Amino acid sequence: MKDTPLLTLKGTYKKFGGLSAVDNLSLKISEGYIYGLIGPNGAGKTTIFNLITGVYPCTSGSILLDDVDLTPLKPYRIARLGISRTFQTIRLFPSMSTWEHVLIGQNFLSRSRIGEIFPIRRTQGLALRAQAEEALRILGLWEVRDRKAVTLPYGSQRKVEIARAIAAQPKLLLLDEPSAGMNIRETEELLSVISKIHDLGITILVIEHDMRVVMGVCDHIVVLNFGRKIAEGTPMEIRQNEEVLEAYLGKEE
Ligand SMILES: Nc1ncnc2c1ncn2[C@@H]1O[C@H](COP(=O)(O)OP(=O)(O)O)[C@@H](O)[C@H]1O
Ligand SMILES: [Mg+2]
Repeated sequence: MKDTPLLTLKGTYKKFGGLSAVDNLSLKISEGYIYGLIGPNGAGKTTIFNLITGVYPCTSGSILLDDVDLTPLKPYRIARLGISRTFQTIRLFPSMSTWEHVLIGQNFLSRSRIGEIFPIRRTQGLALRAQAEEALRILGLWEVRDRKAVTLPYGSQRKVEIARAIAAQPKLLLLDEPSAGMNIRETEELLSVISKIHDLGITILVIEHDMRVVMGVCDHIVVLNFGRKIAEGTPMEIRQNEEVLEAYLGKEE
């Protein structure tokens, strides 16, 4: 694995009262790979996404994107530096079409300051529409772009969120349990979607429970338990790691 760290966590902590949700986590995400983040419920996975995206401040430690320290930055600034995410639970607006969801995500990014809500020039607007179209096509949603997103099947709703996230053309995409609630066919499609997104040159960090997804697409896997990193390696290495089997995989058998 070549070593051009895109994202670096250095001794990151997050405490909620007395609970260390993320406990002295150091991590390097190299450009161009697909990383899996796994661990039992409550291990701190979603909290890590919330720290990276600036939803929560770190209790201590730092998070760098390239050489930029993200820790003092607001979420919209971090998004504009090239980090997009999806959420563990679907977050869609009932009145909005699929197409609008993808465009709205971009409008947020193209805003340079609060108050500049409609600053998009025509040329810029056309580029954004082209990106939105590409995102919808990659996710196989172009045909349903005019439908209200909430009326789509569950698996497609999750894809709308992924389309919204990649339309912003991020360097790093964070997916929080994208296969949750998907049936087998939808999960198969998700695997190919993740590969296509990777082919665009986007680095991916995916939290996932479904081992077929994790083992199927990830180059590198990080395992958490009680906020701590207990293992890291290739899918093959993780499959054979005793501590991982005990803490996590064993429980699923
Ligand atoms: N906003 C919060 N306030 C208090 N505790 C939280 C908050 N968010 C998460 N936690 C706690 O932090 C721990 C890690 O949660 P989370 O990151 O959601 O785990 P995971 O995504 O791995 O299931 C859990 O014990 C959870 O209850
Ligand atoms: Mg979670």
